[in-house]
Amino acid sequence: MSQDCISAIREEVLSCCSCELCKYRTRPVPGELMGSGKLFLVGEAPGKREDELGRPFVGKAGILLRKTLDEVGAKDVYITNAVKCRPPNNRTPTRSEIETCKPYLIREISCLRPKVIVALGKTASYALLGVDRSLKEMRGRRFQAEYGGVKVDVIVTYHPAAVVRNPKYLLPFKFDIRRAWEEVKGLG
Ligand code: URA
Repeated sequence: MSQDCISAIREEVLSCCSCELCKYRTRPVPGELMGSGKLFLVGEAPGKREDELGRPFVGKAGILLRKTLDEVGAKDVYITNAVKCRPPNNRTPTRSEIETCKPYLIREISCLRPKVIVALGKTASYALLGVDRSLKEMRGRRFQAEYGGVKVDVIVTYHPAAVVRNPKYLLPFKFDIRRAWEEVKGLG
């Protein structure tokens, strides 16, 4: 069952010390499953609040993300990050940290077998697609990918923290989240 599969990954993340980040973190931040997790969202890495609470997207950016999910009626959601531990001073995770943490992400995808993944920002897009392009080029585009034998469409949108900083991104961000949810909500 996908719940057990996700719980097993969660236990491993909670004691992971595969990279240097475990020295600096307060708590590791495993993914969070709500309902059946049909809508699969990937962020960058935990921030200060997430590190304190051990939950993804619970700070300012998280409040915006969760409010948007509520507004579009998305109830079956899985929220995770490319990197499960907070980098010191919220720096961007290194390529090596992303690669080290990637097996968890691939296993999360294998457990839940989503049809659509939303990449929130540049780091998530890099972790999922291996491309290092600007959000301007990538936002709203759809990429076909395969992880652990699961074929997925990856939709790229803005990171919620960028939306907090730039309110002009709010409408396109909501549009992307709504569209992704509409696409998956009817699926078994
Ligand atoms: N930013 C992220 O990318 N992930 C979180 O969990 C919180 C903020």
